[in-house]
Amino acid sequence: MKKIEETLNYLRNEIHDFKPEIGVILGSGLGVFCNNLKGISIKYKDIPNFATSKVSGHKGELLYCKVEDKNCAIMQGRFHYYEGISLQDCTFPIKVLKLAGIKTLIITNAAGGINKEFNVGDIMMLKDHINFMGANPLMGKNNENLGERFPDMSNVYDANLRKKAKKCAKELNIDIKEGIYIATTGPSYETAAEINAYRILGADAVGMSSVPEAIVSNYLKINTLAFSLITNHATGVSKNTLSHQEVLETGKKAGLKLSSLIKKIISKL
Ligand code: HPA
Repeated sequence: MKKIEETLNYLRNEIHDFKPEIGVILGSGLGVFCNNLKGISIKYKDIPNFATSKVSGHKGELLYCKVEDKNCAIMQGRFHYYEGISLQDCTFPIKVLKLAGIKTLIITNAAGGINKEFNVGDIMMLKDHINFMGANPLMGKNNENLGERFPDMSNVYDANLRKKAKKCAKELNIDIKEGIYIATTGPSYETAAEINAYRILGADAVGMSSVPEAIVSNYLKINTLAFSLITNHATGVSKNTLSHQEVLETGKKAGLKLSSLIKKIISKL
């Protein structure tokens, strides 16, 4: 709690009386969301108790700004378990944003499509997830002031918010899929055998993030919504080999579509 308060005090000093209501986490290549947004941007490396992220495609800044007239805190880039950062540290910013006042969190990521019906460039809204990381960000001593020891996970991706999101997509004429995201630690991409196994488990898309954030967000009783941008077919679904470059390029191309959807959703919150 002391660490969270220290970070919050630092941020309050930077942003004065700006009170964020909505948090957004931008995944690989989704930086386009911030084009034309103006506000106060703070580098993660300057924020006390924040880890530092060096993965290409991630800006590593927290932007406080208005989006559709709503006060938002936008994480441009996130921390990953595969960087050697603990899941507790990966999810620390969400605790800070909760105490700063956010009521809603919109999470985005780049993911590989396991479902054979998915095309590159599709948007998948998460209806549920499988935590396949072999660890949980809530492990360790629990702070009862933040949330309960054994939080329920039956509505991680809030059903009402999902309904609202589908309506927004329809209004914008954007086709969105719904599905189950499986989170692995990475950083290696999956083998074809692993992808076949994940499909049998019920997963539609695979990635290396978001699930720890969604668990903590739900624990903190923040209304949560999450989207995957399908940047590639998962291993074995097509004959292509995978590269981070491909992920970033598709993110850039299809990121605009997801950006406009998120802005519309924010306007309706
Ligand atoms: N696997 C895991 N993570 C990913 C992928 C993938 O195919 N694409 C984007 N992030």
